[in-house]
Order: sequence, then C-alpha cells, then structure tokens
Amino acid sequence: MSQSPEIDHALALLRAGQVIGLPTETVYGLAADASDEAAIKKIYELKGRPADHPLIVHIAPPSLKDKDSEEAWSLALQPWARDIPEEALVLAKTFWPGPLTMVLTKAKQVSPLVTGGQDTVAIRCPNHPVAIDLLKQWGKGLVAPSANRFGKVSPTCAQDVLDEFPRQDLFVIDGGACQVGIESTIIDLTRVEQLGPRLLRPGMLTEDTILQALSLVAKESDDSSPVPRVSGSLSAHYAPKTPLILRGRNTVLPDLNHKKVAYVSLGLDPQPFAQASELTLLEWGLNPAKYAQQLYRVLRDFDKENYDYIIFDEPPHAQEWLAILDRLKRAARGSGH
Ligand code: TXA
Ligand code: MG
Repeated sequence: MSQSPEIDHALALLRAGQVIGLPTETVYGLAADASDEAAIKKIYELKGRPADHPLIVHIAPPSLKDKDSEEAWSLALQPWARDIPEEALVLAKTFWPGPLTMVLTKAKQVSPLVTGGQDTVAIRCPNHPVAIDLLKQWGKGLVAPSANRFGKVSPTCAQDVLDEFPRQDLFVIDGGACQVGIESTIIDLTRVEQLGPRLLRPGMLTEDTILQALSLVAKESDDSSPVPRVSGSLSAHYAPKTPLILRGRNTVLPDLNHKKVAYVSLGLDPQPFAQASELTLLEWGLNPAKYAQQLYRVLRDFDKENYDYIIFDEPPHAQEWLAILDRLKRAARGSGH
C-alpha cells in the first residue's frame, strides 16, 4: 500500500489490464501495462490511433542515490532496450527524470504492439511526482501516449482528459496542471555511432542542450533508410477545430469585421484587430517556457468558446522556440475541422 489511495486504485486498475489517465510534467498520458497486449490494444481503441503508430514506454528512475549512475540507468533500460549506447546513459543521467524520450534498439521481449512492429522502442522517465510514485510501485513499464484522441490537442490537466473521452469510464489521477505543457523531445540514438543523435520531435529540451551534454556537433544525416514513424510528425497534428492562423510579419489577415477573434500577441501590429466584434487579447511575452505551459490550455479553451479565428503572432525562429513553432504550424495546418 502507498500513501495515496488514488495511486493504489490506479495500480489495481493497471493490474486488471485497464487504462488510466496519468499526469506527467509534459502532458497527460493514457497509461497501460507495457507487457499486456490486451491492455495496449485498449489504448489504441480509445485514442482511435492507427496500430502502426508506436508508443512510449515510461520507466521509473533509480533511487535518488543512483540517479547519477550510468550503471543504474542501464539496468533500468535493459528490460526494454539492447545494444544501449553510451550516449543514452549520458542523456539519462543528465536529463531523466525529464521531458526527453530516447529511441533505442528494442529488447527481444518488447511487444510489436508497443513499437508499431519496428525494431526500435521509445523510452522516457517522466518527471512528475505522481508518475514517479506510481512507476516505482508498479515496478515495470507503462506505455503512455498523450491522452487525446488521435490528431487532437494533448491534455494538460485531468479535466482535459475527461473531456477527451466523455463516454468512457476513465480513471484519471489528478496531478494538477502540467509544468512543461507540450510533449517531450524525441531523440533517436539507434544509429548514433554512424549518424549522431537525430531529433525526431522537438520539445522544450532543445537539441543544442542535448548536444552540449553529449559534447557532439550535429552531423548532417545522409541516411536513406525509412524515417521512423512519429505520429507527431504528421503535418496536421495538435489541431483545434477553430481555424488557427500563424501570423508572420507579411501575413495578410482575413477580414475580421464582425468576427469573434482570439489573438495571442508577441508585439505585431494590433491595428487589424480593431475591426473584430469581439476580441480576446493575450500578451504572453517572450518567455518560451511560460508560453509552452499555456499553449494547449488556451487552444482547448478557445475551441470551446466559438471563436471565428485563433491568431498567433509567429514566435522567433530560435532554438528555444522551435518546439512551440512546430506545434503552432501543425495546429494551423490541421485546424478548422
Ligand atoms: O511527453 C510525452 O512524450 C507524452 C507523455 C504522456 O509522456 N507522450 C507522448 O506520446 O507524447 P505520444 O504517443 O502522443 O507520442 C509519442 C511519439 C509518437 O509520435 C510516436 O510515433 C513516437 O513517439 N514513437 C514511439 N515509438 C517510437 C519509435 N520506436 N521510433 C520512433 N518514434 C516513436
Ligand atoms: Mg500524442
């Protein structure tokens, strides 16, 4: 038994092959036993996700005194990965628990349902006290994709998860609002010796910071092998229903006359918004961590409030804004349906 009845209940459900809503520092996940194929199938069904889109295995960190030990991280990874490169251990001890997912060569026993039939597996050790507590007591891996229906905005609080699956009787552990607010950075280390680490999905932990930890210079990849399937790399992911416009300096905005508009400003000309019949103006300033924390929150909230347009000033094209820019571009492309 643990200190928390919620965690005890979650553990009982997981043992019974059920899916639960799990808080992490990035976004909420839909978690299930990574070694139970029937439970994993339930995740795909719930999300409406194609079966060839692989899942991330979440693992517990070693005890605090071993957090800096490569050997301890290696032991934690071994049930899931083989031929683990030194780079993975360096990144684990530097950034885990944290918003980083590593793609490694999978261990033999990992189910193809987890990996989408690929020879690689994505692994992350999340940095959220509830997730860590649960994973430690669980003692095995949990697969956990973001807890949204396929293609929709990821949830950043427990209520968002319930809103995504209103007809399901889903138990969600309430761990408060997510601190990071967008999904983890995914880095592929499967052929790191030949190709260097390869960024598959940008996140708030930047590629530069990762390379610094590895003291490596990014190698231009001339790889002609198939690109691993990352659903986050579909062009229209993270999409709100309301049309979303990413506004650069030269973007010509539509006629906003008689329109209800939500505008997240980074300082471009406010004049066109004078025509709108109703305007919600947010000025978040140039702080990428705060921006990411609020991004999905407002996308969901705006989507509930019948705006005609959601308009974002385009953030700077700098490393620390890359993940935000990536999500905004996808949201713009997939929006309006
Ligand atoms: O922050 C996060 O990573 C959240 C929280 C819940 O941990 N999880 C998350 O999971 O974003 P999901 O399933 O929404 O996105 C995982 C991404 C997918 O785009 C998937 O295609 C990719 O990871 N992925 C999983 N396994 C992979 C593999 N073996 N090779 C390449 N990409 C993989
Ligand atoms: Mg997702």
